[in-house]
Amino acid sequence: MTGCHKNPARAQRREIMTQAQSFDYTRQDAAGASCTAQAWAKVPPSLTRDERAQWKSRAAAQLAAHDAVLVAHYYVDGDLQDLALATGGCVADSLEMARFGRNHAAHTLVVAGVRFMGETAKILSPDKRVLMPDLEATCTLDLGCPADEFTAFCDAHPDRTVVVYANTSAAVKARADWMVTSSCALPIVQHLKARGEKILWAPDRHLGRYIQEQTGADMLMWNGACIVHDEFKGLELELLRKEHPQAKVLVHPESPQGVIAQADVVGSTTALLKAVVDGSAAEYIVATDNGLMHRMRQLAPGKTLYEAPTAGQSATCKSCAHCPWMAMNALQGVVACLEQGSGEIVLDEAVRAKALTCITRMLDFVESHGAAPAGLVPHLGAT
Ligand code: 13P
Ligand code: SF4
Repeated sequence: MTGCHKNPARAQRREIMTQAQSFDYTRQDAAGASCTAQAWAKVPPSLTRDERAQWKSRAAAQLAAHDAVLVAHYYVDGDLQDLALATGGCVADSLEMARFGRNHAAHTLVVAGVRFMGETAKILSPDKRVLMPDLEATCTLDLGCPADEFTAFCDAHPDRTVVVYANTSAAVKARADWMVTSSCALPIVQHLKARGEKILWAPDRHLGRYIQEQTGADMLMWNGACIVHDEFKGLELELLRKEHPQAKVLVHPESPQGVIAQADVVGSTTALLKAVVDGSAAEYIVATDNGLMHRMRQLAPGKTLYEAPTAGQSATCKSCAHCPWMAMNALQGVVACLEQGSGEIVLDEAVRAKALTCITRMLDFVESHGAAPAGLVPHLGAT
């Protein structure tokens, strides 16, 4: 008999830890397509300049006709970002999207991003109609953290405070004590550590490890990853830095350790944008979804931007620095959801009410600590 069998509680814990594996985004369906291939297949065809102008004015008219506001993430198509700004909506990171949607008076929120962003908007604003251009726009972090397995993981560790990243389903949030985004994860975990709390963290292992390193908190991790950031390559980044020795390196903390270790700035999408706009350097290497470059180019037109490398000699690129689910959002989808009332987020009320607790805790923390922490971290020792 092994030691495990002598102690059933320990045996069960081990089994649960084994289940907490990273989501396999190469897994194929019956037709031989992986989840990312399915997402790329749903990305609407690109439009000519005239078509884009026509769809934009049709979308703007629909937004006005339905008392709707467009809440867009930095990673979606540039036309959608421009439309959001031109019609009184916002282009933001996941924290600011949540706050903007909650505070806006519009009757309908059109969330251009991925499903967890639409769900967060609905959790915060149950009386508003929340529509998405494509409800199937998901996220590998969300896919890799099924609520039943996550609940079992939490149940096996009742002594830990459960902290989940925003990139999870409403059902996972309903089991959590705190939600965090990359903008505020660091100060919130610092706060919990100061209170002597041990943390159960899910789902992004890279962000979790980074926060653990920065805070020294006791953190038990779920084993998830973002398909876009997980593909950034440390070795190739070193080579690119040699080609551009003056360039500052900006990294989203969902990236692997070897990439973060070379960063001048680690931070949320907003923090990286601010670093380019406010920075005195002329060149930047950017390790995040290349959708953010649209806003960076608009706000810092004189600066030179390089995409951090995703695929080296030994790599197979599945995202190539662009999230396939973010790419499913398009002008056509905004028009369709408003004209047809399609893509509506509907949540079970009991789940929504439970999930609200961990989000409200985060928003109260952010508000009581002044302006949203930008998630900026000083120089990390790039060599
Ligand atoms: P932000 O919270 O920085 O916007 O990140 C969300 C996300 O999905 C990054 O991949
Ligand atoms: Fe999820 Fe990564 Fe896409 Fe962000 S970029 S939505 S973390 S898969």
